[in-house]
Amino acid sequence: IKEVAFEKDLKGKKVLITAGPTMEKIDPVRFISNHSTGKMGYALAKIAMLRGADVTLVTGKTYIKKPDFVKIVEAYSAKEMFNAVNGEFENQDIVIMSAAVADYRPKIVALEKIKKQDKDAVIELQRTDDILGTMSAKKTKQFMCGFSMETENMIENSKAKLKKKNLDMICANNLKVSGAGFGTDTNVVTIITEDGAKELPIESKEKVAYDIISEIVGRL
Ligand code: CTP
Ligand code: CA
Repeated sequence: IKEVAFEKDLKGKKVLITAGPTMEKIDPVRFISNHSTGKMGYALAKIAMLRGADVTLVTGKTYIKKPDFVKIVEAYSAKEMFNAVNGEFENQDIVIMSAAVADYRPKIVALEKIKKQDKDAVIELQRTDDILGTMSAKKTKQFMCGFSMETENMIENSKAKLKKKNLDMICANNLKVSGAGFGTDTNVVTIITEDGAKELPIESKEKVAYDIISEIVGRL
């Protein structure tokens, strides 16, 4: 969407968005990560900015162009992302977490490159903190929107996350649909609130971002 005169309906609002993958170090050369490219979160940041918001984008490592006129905070690991979000949270009006945050990190990060051996190996993992859940638990005025990525029982599982993390909205991504998910320029998202589920048509990630933000504005 290019030639739209954007309504400035987020003027005066502070919007925090997380985007991209996290990377959890195993040793100095290896890490655990996921396929997130950051496109959906960057589109949300751009559209929120165009609609007048004061946007902070907390981003994992990505290879796409950073949006203009947005405060960029880089945070590569789940821990760094937690700290970055925590530091920015208090004054926000809207928080949208589209980052694909690792649920586990290696328990020990080896200081030297791990050498291969003749036998199989195991990497012990420990849980990371849930950024969205933790922020939600201490929210004051923030409208909280999460994302959820599912390969089965999308609506049911996403509704459970909405409840568990005390969210105002969750945008569910169905990985099984074509034209949706990691790295694509289009997306298919179902917006879930306590009022129910509403599937958006397949559209560019920018148009999906526009629709998600409209839904949020309508609920402020
Ligand atoms: N999230 C987060 N911190 C984490 C893990 C997830 O803030 N450590 C956020 C994501 O950014 C997303 C939402 O929580 O907005 C849901 O993420 P998802 O991975 O779909 O759900 P989980 O609660 O982690 O459950 P599971 O991976 O088991 O489905
Ligand atoms: Ca997860």
